[in-house]
Amino acid sequence: MGILQDRLTEYSQSDFYPYHMPGHKRNPAGTLPGEWTSRDITEIEGFDNLHDATGILQQMQEKAATAYGAEESFYLVNGSTCGILSAISAAVPFGGELLITRNCHKSVYHGAYLRHLSLHYLYPDMLEEYDICEAITAKQVEEALEAHPGVAAVLIVSPTYEGRIADVKAIAEVVHKKGLPLIVDEAHGAHLGFSPDFARNSARLGADIVINSVHKTLPAMTQTALLHVNGGLIDRQILKRHLRIYQTSSPSYVLMSSIEEAVDMVGEESAFEEFVIHWRELLTRLSELKNLRILPNSFEECRKKKQDIGKLIISTKETELSGTKLYDMLLTEYHLQPEMVCESYVLCMFTIGDTKEGYDRLAEALLDIDKQIQGATKTGFGKLQVPETVLPFYEAWDREPEEIPLKDAEGRIAGEFLNLYPPGTPILVPGERLTKDIITFLEKCLSEGLTVQGISREGCIKVLRGRM
Ligand SMILES: Cc1ncc(COP(=O)(O)O)c(C=O)c1O
Repeated sequence: MGILQDRLTEYSQSDFYPYHMPGHKRNPAGTLPGEWTSRDITEIEGFDNLHDATGILQQMQEKAATAYGAEESFYLVNGSTCGILSAISAAVPFGGELLITRNCHKSVYHGAYLRHLSLHYLYPDMLEEYDICEAITAKQVEEALEAHPGVAAVLIVSPTYEGRIADVKAIAEVVHKKGLPLIVDEAHGAHLGFSPDFARNSARLGADIVINSVHKTLPAMTQTALLHVNGGLIDRQILKRHLRIYQTSSPSYVLMSSIEEAVDMVGEESAFEEFVIHWRELLTRLSELKNLRILPNSFEECRKKKQDIGKLIISTKETELSGTKLYDMLLTEYHLQPEMVCESYVLCMFTIGDTKEGYDRLAEALLDIDKQIQGATKTGFGKLQVPETVLPFYEAWDREPEEIPLKDAEGRIAGEFLNLYPPGTPILVPGERLTKDIITFLEKCLSEGLTVQGISREGCIKVLRGRM
């Protein structure tokens, strides 16, 4: 057990009486289950303070820094979201310019909104065979930095939601050549670097700030995350200021002890051995699929370390099924809940927390479905053109919009994000122009039953008033 778990256990069994928050007072006769409340404390004597850690919480953060190869690490209890907001705020001056991968999480956009940043986008290539975005390359970053000399920092996502991994070392070199910091949203990669079969983690590959959602790929409570910092390009005092702004002033000790347990676990030498064995067996079994296709399609593919272990894309592209139909079948007929669905694929996620039964049930269901379906040639939704930015997005988002039917929106300027959810990455950002192509694309998404955030049930969207 970690330092904090031990202390919380000891404290919950002691006779100290709480004349302090939280309001449940650790009282087992209260309305909440006793196992929830017994360890749920606040900053009391002996338990340190996350916002000015000098005691056990500082020791725990130092353990995390050592595990991930960082000079300094910070516990986050408001998810990677608060780490991303803090990283952006520390790396780019108010009103400055930031270069980001277009398929970034919405928290990146929210950070840019709060700080009135002008955004420049890195558009990843498509891996056409699977209809997913590739990881961004060093060459793309280098070219974008030449085109936008005013940029103050670069933020990329790796692994992507779909598990594509960038060459972070090469990207860091390109960014550092310009004297700029590289932020890596590694929310989906808290496990990286802890098995010889995984890609290395970005803190060890030269990134200046790295953010991990511990809760996504490690067995930890929802909202737990870490931020790592290296080098001299980030002002640590400013970073800490923003962590204090974006994190709750009442960090949960239950969540913090969960981070510690996860960090202790990844440090164990054989932690991921069984996980890798199960994963390898799954890929071997699924190599028998005749119609559905998977990514990675072999363990060798993972060895190249461009596709993350644990993220399984099941493509329906060359079958009569749509992604949503496969998703519905897995959910209703087999009681298997995938992580996400798109037009032509379903994404299932595996971690060290999965049981053998979890692997077997998915393999059996997919092999079973595969036998029932036929191959087919389909035309996809097609590739969208890069939209025209008419107004800085923070300015457009603050204007009062009007609601009009999507079908009448050609030529108008988006007043709200239009996101496919999940993963919540934008098709259109406020301030960008709607074209016929984009409207057709959105209509196809809706007719496929995909969730598009920003379109009402009545089929209306928010646009800026007047024509521009
Ligand atoms: C790529 C990426 N970055 C950041 C986040 C935010 O993470 P959290 O939910 O831990 O705040 C997510 C959440 O889905 C994500 O997919």
